[in-house]
Amino acid sequence: MNDPQRSSALPADIQRAVELLRAGELVAFPTETVYGLGADARNPEAVAKIFAAKGRPADHPLIVHIGEIAHLEHWARDIPEVARVLAKAFWPGPLTLILKRQPDVPDAVTGGQDSVGLRMPNHPVALELLRAFADATGGAGNGLAAPSANRFGRISPTTAQHVRDDLGAAVSLILDGGPCTVGIESTIVDLTGPRTVILRPGMLSPFDIGRLLGRMPEMADNPLAPRTTPRASGSLEAHYAPRTPLQIMPNDSLPIVLRDALVRREHVAVLATFPAPFDHPLISWQVAPADPAGFARELYANLRKLDSLGCAHMFIEKPVGQPWQAIADRLKRAAAGSGGEKTSPQDHP
Ligand code: TXA
Ligand code: MG
Repeated sequence: MNDPQRSSALPADIQRAVELLRAGELVAFPTETVYGLGADARNPEAVAKIFAAKGRPADHPLIVHIGEIAHLEHWARDIPEVARVLAKAFWPGPLTLILKRQPDVPDAVTGGQDSVGLRMPNHPVALELLRAFADATGGAGNGLAAPSANRFGRISPTTAQHVRDDLGAAVSLILDGGPCTVGIESTIVDLTGPRTVILRPGMLSPFDIGRLLGRMPEMADNPLAPRTTPRASGSLEAHYAPRTPLQIMPNDSLPIVLRDALVRREHVAVLATFPAPFDHPLISWQVAPADPAGFARELYANLRKLDSLGCAHMFIEKPVGQPWQAIADRLKRAAAGSGGEKTSPQDHP
């Protein structure tokens, strides 16, 4: 995970971003997972602008992004050893830690909860921005509150253009760091209780975490896990959603649903790891990488591309097996929210 690359942002862009953030404006920035919509995490009015721009309910907590592991102390208290072990191994990287918050962390960031989400992203532009921002604000470990830079419930952005398409004028500046290399959101691990609980799966897998800790983390969906885990919007049933009705299909069912759609003369979009068995003008077929890392990296761009075609249906090959767990999770939620009718996602029962 520790793979520092050179920043592609010009120093002048970083400088301008820092000035805008200090003035309480929003700046979108690249991370290795998805683009974030950042605001000064110590400024509640700036944080309020995030919720307005996204159309996101105000009680959903935001992740605070920091540029140094040492800045953990400014945001979290009673930090358990396991948090330090995970941060040392996987930061900068696609891992968010939920910890007990310091009393002065604004409620606007935590949704009024007694915990705070923290992450050090592994992207040279993000790290440069975070470090420059912390330096410019007195070095007291200041950070950026940032959700994914998309409209609430919609597909997360993995390029600067996606952010422009979704949020445009609501953002003062979009730092372009190229396409995201991980492509889906960070793994969220709740460490506020005695257990290690994964609230949102990501490409950093339970096995990566379990191997390091010598015991497997629990999954929040596990009925044996405590039901007191904090609310995470990534845990909503419907999320990451295209407007085209989306169904996840075992690959041997694809020929049948395609044939039915063609009988009805409907235009369909397909995302699969193998090429179309035949060409047809009513079928828009997108081949995705057959490995989980490649599939995840291109997933949201592929969803956006196929969604823009205005097809009657979108079918995606059902991913099978543990390495596909986080992708399967996003696809399930994308399908639950697809079709454009449900604008307010439903909670898990
Ligand atoms: O990869 C990522 O995590 C990206 C990039 C930009 O860092 N961010 C992201 O943010 O996905 P967002 O807001 O779209 O999702 C953050 C998730 C939400 O589900 C939120 O509820 C949860 O983190 N979260 C944040 N603070 C929390 C807390 N104190 N307790 C429980 N969940 C929390
Ligand atoms: Mg999001």
